[in-house]
Amino acid sequence: MAVERTLSIIKPDATRRNLTGQINARFEESGLRIVAQKRIQLTKDQAEGFYAVHRERAFFGELCDMMCSGPVIVQVLEGDNAITRNREIMGATNPANADEGTIRRDFAESIEANSVHGSDAPETAAEEISYYFSQLELVG
Ligand code: CMP
Repeated sequence: MAVERTLSIIKPDATRRNLTGQINARFEESGLRIVAQKRIQLTKDQAEGFYAVHRERAFFGELCDMMCSGPVIVQVLEGDNAITRNREIMGATNPANADEGTIRRDFAESIEANSVHGSDAPETAAEEISYYFSQLELVG
């Protein structure tokens, strides 16, 4: 199995409810290692840049407003098949469709305020990690 890195974001709906530790425990209990992490407040420009691929979607404006509504935790998770593994741990985008025991099923408030983001492929993981972290912040 390949050791990968993926970009994870704990979203404002989760930081507001003080769920950072519980969500991080899910990652660690599943064998993923948090190799970089910081708590930041996104500007509207930064949120729009990060989600630019969704620019034409009806939910884009509300998504970016939500992502700026409070602090987020941006983090890099590492482990065997980390990209797919993290998506399994998160569950489906819409918490109503997420499997039992997943983060979104247990914590998300709605399809938009769905507590976590995770990269969906190796190319996007590399792009998303470099959006928030410099080489100096990435150990190993
Ligand atoms: P995320 O995995 O961060 O990727 C895009 C985000 O857009 C998604 O999680 C949700 O927070 C948000 N979103 C809001 N509405 C929708 C929708 N109808 N379909 C997909 N994503 C949505």
